[in-house]
Amino acid sequence: MSKFRETAALFLGAIPVFLGYETLKGDEKFYSNILMPVVHSCFSPETAHNLAIKLLSLGLVPKGKTQQFDKLSCKVFGQTFPNPLGIAAGFDKHAEAIDGLNKLGFGFVEVGSITPLPQAGNAKPRVFRLPEDKVVINRYGFNSCGHDVAAARLDKHMKGRIVLGINLGKNKESFDFTKDYTDGVTKLGKYADYIVINVSSPNTPGLRSLQGRQKLQDLCTNVVAVKEGLPNKPSILVKIAPDLTEDDKQDIAHALLQSKVDGLIVSNTTVARPSTLVNSHKSERGGLSGKPLCEVSTKLVADMYKLTDGKLPIIGVGGVWDGKDAYDKIKAGASLVQIYTSLIYEGPPLVGKIKRELNQLLEKDGFINVAEAVGADHK
Ligand code: FNR
Repeated sequence: MSKFRETAALFLGAIPVFLGYETLKGDEKFYSNILMPVVHSCFSPETAHNLAIKLLSLGLVPKGKTQQFDKLSCKVFGQTFPNPLGIAAGFDKHAEAIDGLNKLGFGFVEVGSITPLPQAGNAKPRVFRLPEDKVVINRYGFNSCGHDVAAARLDKHMKGRIVLGINLGKNKESFDFTKDYTDGVTKLGKYADYIVINVSSPNTPGLRSLQGRQKLQDLCTNVVAVKEGLPNKPSILVKIAPDLTEDDKQDIAHALLQSKVDGLIVSNTTVARPSTLVNSHKSERGGLSGKPLCEVSTKLVADMYKLTDGKLPIIGVGGVWDGKDAYDKIKAGASLVQIYTSLIYEGPPLVGKIKRELNQLLEKDGFINVAEAVGADHK
């Protein structure tokens, strides 16, 4: 991208910062109906993504609605969250924008996936927007700065300001997948409140096979042993795919309980292509995220909650667009919720909107705190 276009884009993105979006009447509609479509028509998905990270890393962020909701404050994995809404992995892949994301009003941030060695990922283009379908398809393939660069960056980040998750991936050419993950815990664990073993991205050949019963149990047992040696002992979570058979789900639940991990993230992107898709990019290879994933991942949250007897906290992610989607995942068994694709289409005001709506729904159903609603569908 030319220097001129980059400067113009930064200026465009910074407009709401200077105006202060709380002064923009109907800011949610302004972003979803005007600003985001303009940005999308000017920039490819990957360029727009890079610009967003740049703005966030420079602190050029429209300050999120400052309203705090007492009902949304919760304690999970021994950590206190001001609210249960986080940014999912894949947005801040290289841990560059943690403070900016904190400013947007998220209750926690997950960075990554980070691989041991730097790698470029797949050839471009590798991200596609399907706006009519409220979908994104990506095949980034773990483009990563690697452990060392991430560690140097995280070293400068003041720990303790926001709950931080670090999502680990494996290198494409690696043969010792266990070492890829245990090295990640050794090198990056001290910066993390929780670590994610990502065995569910569809764009790294063979990765999803690590979800098999014995492989997963052995991998997790090794990772848990390494984390026990760290002074801060971050929680260990496993992120799973939505494309699983009933047997797969039972195997995963068994492996997670046996290996004593602390929780799971449900779910990553899907390789399925719903018949409802209309956009011409619908047959692109890669993982599909967004609206059509919402029901599927909520159902999987419910399944995994039951299979693990509610013993493992779950982060629910997939197609969350509003407070009701988040609430449905919580009632199905999620203690925390993440978003990614909806943020691409709706922009930063979505964070405040989801929190406000979730608070209203909890109020309506008489819950004093969000923690009481976790798994309510099963009671
Ligand atoms: C992702 N996601 C993802 N997940 C992960 O564990 N590691 C990663 O590197 C990435 N990368 C990535 C890139 C892009 C462009 C997207 C859209 C998604 C998956 C993400 O964290 C989430 O699980 C799914 O996108 C489902 O949530 P949404 O997007 O439907 O809210």
